[in-house]
Amino acid sequence: MDARSTLIGLSYLVAASLFILGLRYLSSPATARRGNRIAALGMLIAIVVTLLDKQIVSFTWIAVAIVIGSIIGALSARLVKMTAMPEMVGIFNGFGGGASALVAVAEFIRLTSSPTAVMTLDVSITTILGVLIGGITLTGSFIAFGKLKGFISGSPITFPMQQPVNVLLLAAALVLGILVIAGTPIVWLFYVVVAIALIYGVLFVIPIGGADMPVVISLLNSFSGLAACAAGFVVKNHILIIAGALVGAAGLILTQIMCKAMNRSLANVLFSAFGTGDMAAGTTSDEQKSVKSVDSEEAAMVMGYAQSVIIVPGYGMAAAQAQHAVRELSELLQKRDIEVKFAVHPVAGRMPGHMNVLLAEANVPYNLLYDMDDINPEFPHTDVVLVIGANDVINPAARTDTTSPIYGMPILDADKAKHVIIIKRSLNVGFAGVDNELFYNKKTMMYFGSARERVQELIAEIKKL
Ligand code: TAP
Repeated sequence: MDARSTLIGLSYLVAASLFILGLRYLSSPATARRGNRIAALGMLIAIVVTLLDKQIVSFTWIAVAIVIGSIIGALSARLVKMTAMPEMVGIFNGFGGGASALVAVAEFIRLTSSPTAVMTLDVSITTILGVLIGGITLTGSFIAFGKLKGFISGSPITFPMQQPVNVLLLAAALVLGILVIAGTPIVWLFYVVVAIALIYGVLFVIPIGGADMPVVISLLNSFSGLAACAAGFVVKNHILIIAGALVGAAGLILTQIMCKAMNRSLANVLFSAFGTGDMAAGTTSDEQKSVKSVDSEEAAMVMGYAQSVIIVPGYGMAAAQAQHAVRELSELLQKRDIEVKFAVHPVAGRMPGHMNVLLAEANVPYNLLYDMDDINPEFPHTDVVLVIGANDVINPAARTDTTSPIYGMPILDADKAKHVIIIKRSLNVGFAGVDNELFYNKKTMMYFGSARERVQELIAEIKKL
């Protein structure tokens, strides 16, 4: 190995270490920004070294692509709202998968059109894997993006014999792929594999409900990593293999965490057409039961004279963009010497870390945020729990009702506090579509309305106390 290859190898090692360190820091909101910068530095080193290492024919096109990509990246980071993050991640996954598939296609064309080039077995296997996984990721991510944006219906789109058709398509792609690998590469067969991958991506995602898209997006994120890893083997680039493997593994772990926190298997998310995206359309099965409804003045009295308050944010806080008002409320309560803590459920909202991101955006100090396991023992000693647009994550049916779809999902023990105030617009169900007995509990006060207005009114009333 000459000095040049050693230097390149070492630089890739540094870049890979920075990726891993970045991932480590990304695991806490307090260090996430640093983690992002460290990983970005790793990526910069990887790109620069790769550009110096490979025999680049023309830098012009690369420069044009870098400028266009940087503009799109910078604008998206500035303009895309926090609540639209799942869509943005979704479409970026799609581009990642598409890019890897294109690398594999380009290498296939280069090797099959040159009379002297030989396509070795490892390259042909990873080329097929690259186009298969990359193609599925590309179109699947676009469908996921469309569902979240509302361009495509959030309800599961199904047709007769859908699952057998999907299985057949995937089997056909694999058999044709093996044919391409086994003999002399047949160019048209290769393109059929590419076409099947693109079609399968669409058919794989359309039957999944819009509300399950965050899980699908993290799975597609993992796919985009695996496609990049395959592309790394195709062009024999070590850092692409490492980075792809890291993304693949991280995406898979995240998918598993989300499924576990919802107490559902991945198969159930992918094949059961659960979570129609129609979050507020349900009705309670038990509307005859009575609830205690309070107005701003009553809610302010209970909150303003409490000694300890736990705030439970949920999807409704994100939908109403109430996080800034919530921060103001928490500061006001603290000024009154009331102990305030935030209880963050791992799947509150609609994407991993949704509540952490929103509360951080509103400058709620990290030390006020508590994970479920840390905060649960505190509920029995707490005067008031203020639930803001959360529903499933505080539903006691998850502990008691074996027939409930959320049975077994760990929940925040809000019902164990002395008083519970719930801000939401109606008695409608949340994501899981199940009624919540906590609404009818004697200690619960329903403070009906949209989260931002209600919290603002609460602030105004507490100030009058
Ligand atoms: P949900 O159970 O979905 O309940 C949210 C509640 O917010 C609804 O019942 C709705 O009631 C209320 N709401 C909507 N807009 C509102 C507004 N403008 N003001 C006030 N309230 C509003 O939310 P959650 O407790 O956060 O639980 C999350 C659910 O999503 C879990 O079932 C979880 O498994 C699932 N999920 C999570 C993720 C991730 S990764 N976080 C991914 C996929 C699925 P009203 O209509 O009556 O207002």
